[in-house]
Parts: sequence; C-alpha cells; structure tokens
Amino acid sequence: MVDTPLLSLEGVGKSFPNGTVALRGARLTVLPGSVHGLVGANGAGKSTMIKIIAGAHAPTSGTVRWKGEEVVWRDPGAARKAGVATIMQHVPLAPTLTVLENVFLGAPGPWRLPRARRREFDRLLRRVHYEIDPDAEVADLAIGERQMVAILQALAIGANLVVMDEPTASLAEGERQVVFDVVRRLSAQGTAFLYVSHFLDEVLSLTDRVTVLRDGTVVEEGPTAAYDEDRLVQAIVGRDLLAAERRAPAPVAADAPVALAVRNLSSPAGVRDVSFEVRRGEVVGIAGLLGSGRSEILHAVYGADSRARGEVLVDGRPVRRGPRAAVAAGMALVPEDRNAQGIVGAFPIWKNISLPDLASLSSARALPREAAEAERAERAIRDLGIVCPGPEALVTELSGGNAQKVVFGKWLYGGARVFMLDEPTAGVDVGAKADILDLVRRFAAEGGAVLVVSSEFEEILAVATRVLVVREGRIVAERPAHETSEEELLMLANGFGGAHDAA
Ligand SMILES: Nc1ncnc2c1ncn2[C@@H]1O[C@H](COP(=O)(O)OP(=O)(O)OP(=O)(O)O)[C@@H](O)[C@H]1O
Ligand SMILES: [Mg+2]
Repeated sequence: MVDTPLLSLEGVGKSFPNGTVALRGARLTVLPGSVHGLVGANGAGKSTMIKIIAGAHAPTSGTVRWKGEEVVWRDPGAARKAGVATIMQHVPLAPTLTVLENVFLGAPGPWRLPRARRREFDRLLRRVHYEIDPDAEVADLAIGERQMVAILQALAIGANLVVMDEPTASLAEGERQVVFDVVRRLSAQGTAFLYVSHFLDEVLSLTDRVTVLRDGTVVEEGPTAAYDEDRLVQAIVGRDLLAAERRAPAPVAADAPVALAVRNLSSPAGVRDVSFEVRRGEVVGIAGLLGSGRSEILHAVYGADSRARGEVLVDGRPVRRGPRAAVAAGMALVPEDRNAQGIVGAFPIWKNISLPDLASLSSARALPREAAEAERAERAIRDLGIVCPGPEALVTELSGGNAQKVVFGKWLYGGARVFMLDEPTAGVDVGAKADILDLVRRFAAEGGAVLVVSSEFEEILAVATRVLVVREGRIVAERPAHETSEEELLMLANGFGGAHDAA
C-alpha cells in the first residue's frame, strides 16, 4: 500500500464504567476515497469504534492516526473540524428546527447568510438527486427523510471522511438507492466513507474493503471482492448460519375468527379510507415505500393518531381511540422510532420489558412483583439473544440492535393478542433477524394476529401469509404471500400494474 491511510486505528481498546469491554486491541485502516465496510453482530463494538472516530468517546488504549498524524479528538467538534462527519445510529437532529437549519448546523461561516444557504442547499440536493422541502420542520419528517437530512448535513461541512452508522436501517428500496448513489458519486470525487450496515448485500456491493468485528476485536479485514455473503456471515457470527427461512406460514382457514377489523380508517396524517381484517393465526404484511403511509396506518389503527377517523374492532368489539384503550383491548405496537417511542433508556432492561404492565397496574397494586418481572426479562434476554451483562443493565448501555430487541420483548411478553410491528428487524444482525421472524411466526401459530410493516419486501414475504400494498395512504393491492414476489410488490408499491385490483 503506497497510499498513506486517511484514518488508522491501532490497538484500540474501550471499557465502560460498568465493566463492559466494548473494544480490545481493535484496528482499522481507511484509505482516501475508499468505501470501507464495518460489520459485526449486535454488540460487537461497531458504534463504539465509530464514536471514538467521531471524538464522542475517548479510547481507553491505543492510537488514532488521521492523515498519518497521531490525533486525540477531545470532542465531536474537533473531529468535525479535522474533516470527519459522522452520522450516528440514532440521528441527533434538532426536531424543532427546519430542514435547512439542520443541514447547516455546524457548517462553516459563509452558510450563515440566508441567501447563500439556500443556494448551497439547492446545490447539495442536486448533488444527491433528492428533493425535500427546506422549510419543513424536522419533527414532521419520516425517519427516512431525517436520515437524508443527516447526510446533507455531512455534505455541508465538506468532510474528507463520512462515517455512517446504519444509514439505511429504515429506508425503503428507493431511498436506499439514493444513499448508494451519494456514496458512489462522492467517493469517486475523493471522499472516503466508513459504512456500517447489517445489510450484507449493501456492504458487498458498495464497499472496497471490509473489517469484521466480533466481540470487540477485528477478526478479519480485506478487500470486499474476496467475500461473498456466506463468508461474511461466517466471519460475523463465527459459525455457519442456516439460510434464513423463507417459508411463510400457511394461509389460515377462511373461517378463522377475525381478530382485528379496520373499517374506513382515514387521517390527515396520510391514511385514506383504509379497510382490512386480520384473522387469528394470520401475519399480514404491509408493503409500501417510504412516505406511502405504511407507518401512519399502524398509528391510526393503534389509536396513537388522534385525528384518525374510522372504526377499529378487536374480536368484534369497537376500540375507543387512544393507546390506553388499545392496550386494554390487547393491541401492541412496536414503533419504528424505538428510541423516541419505545423505551426508557435510564431504566434497566427488566423494567422496560414490564412497562406495558406497569402502566396498567391499578394504584392498589402499585408495586410490580419483581421476581416475575425479572424472570420475564431473563426470558426475553434468552429468546432474543440480547447481549448485556444482565436484566439490571440500563438500556442506554446497550448497543443499538440490542436496545431494539428490548422494545420487542416489552410487547412480546405483555400478553397482547394483536401485534403491530413497524420494521421489526431494522438494525438487528443476521442471526437475531432469523430469531425475531421465528418469534413472529410462533406468535401467530399460537393464535395471535400480526400486522407487520417492513421496507424489506423479502422479509414481508418470509413471514406474512397475506400482503397489503399501500401507496399514497391507500391499499392499492392485496396478494396471498405465496402468490407474489418482491418484484411484483415493488411494482405495485411504485404504482405500476395491479390491473385486477380493487384499488
Ligand atoms: N455507554 C455504554 N455503557 C456501557 N456499555 C456500553 C455503552 N455503550 C455500549 N456499550 C456496550 O458495548 C458493547 C458494544 O456496543 P456497540 O454499540 O459498539 O455495538 P454495535 O456493534 O454498534 O451493535 P449494534 O449492531 O447493535 O448497533 C455492547 O456490549 C454494549 O452493551
Ligand atoms: Mg451500533
């Protein structure tokens, strides 16, 4: 290698105050203009490594070199100034500011002037081939749009290295392509990327080199061309993994009782006259692009959207609007934005898993039975493979993927009968993904009814018995899962085909 690495880490270790050793003797070499993949199971240490590179964490040991020189970045500002833009796993945008204001937060001086800013914003949009309203408030954006704002923000500071921690975890196919295009275009112009993803197909097609972390150490490093998916999976999990089961549950009997009935549901949030039913034992997938209203439908059904109108019945009984009534009726929603809506970071795992129950406890029995709670948490940790020191660990101390599993556990063991999942495996590693899909199937097999939204149509086809395709807030097609394909769903979601559909 003649090139001086842009960034290199040698012998980097990181221990946290609670005793967790997240990295030990880790190394990494990113060449200028290259796209470098960083992969590993949930809890392997990827985000920790990235936070060290971003100046957000100080390493406990080892050295960081930037353009050949040893550096110590004491805070994220220092790293940013040197030319490292980091898009964290959980995008910390300012929700009350507009898109434009967010993009130029932390950008250099000239962009303070409103006119110059707008011109630069338009230029950035052209560079990434994306459209977004500069004056929209970030709080009103969908998660995928927020991700794009974060990418624009990185571009605005003119970074030499853009670090992306799971940028596409909740993006639909079209938006993923936007991200890939940006990465390819900018790396051709000399910007380097460090790219973390659980989507191994992305890593294989997008990166030049790849580093594999397992339990805090680098187990492999090399040119991506030397890998295929199987070899990468093997490196990540340290063993061969059986191919994820593609088998969807068998369609349920036509006379199985209807668990969830939705009639003429509409909302200004983008739900237009939606009606459907889910029977006991059924897993119904909702396939749609980002912005199609797929998550909004779940929120409206759950009663989280107070402006929604229409009827929701569980076991034939109408459910009043509001999450409290939904929980009482046996509904559970695992939201997409799990950090904001799903968990309390400062609580231990066990308490988070008991939350739905704690909420419904009457004041007469104000204290939960701790033994039962702890046991339930132990079970979730086992079933979902949550990497943690134990049920007492705080959720803020968990890796992103493991925190997701906690939210999942919170509802899974709460006795719900109608289960609504928004992107159930976003951010979850290859091994845990298979486990979660198995749990969904098991839940249905035990008589539960499941509604699942996923931007990965492959995943929908792996678990759903039936698929509803949504576009612009409406159900535009319905297909039995075994009679359709990813290609067909993509076509329908994009507004093509579907001649014989009750649109
Ligand atoms: N602030 C913290 N305090 C204590 N332990 C932590 C903290 N942050 C991370 N850890 C632990 O460090 C380990 C590595 O976590 P990290 O977030 O780097 O994983 P990751 O590879 O990014 O996983 P994921 O794919 O789930 O995002 C995990 O065991 C995690 O629980
Ligand atoms: Mg992470």
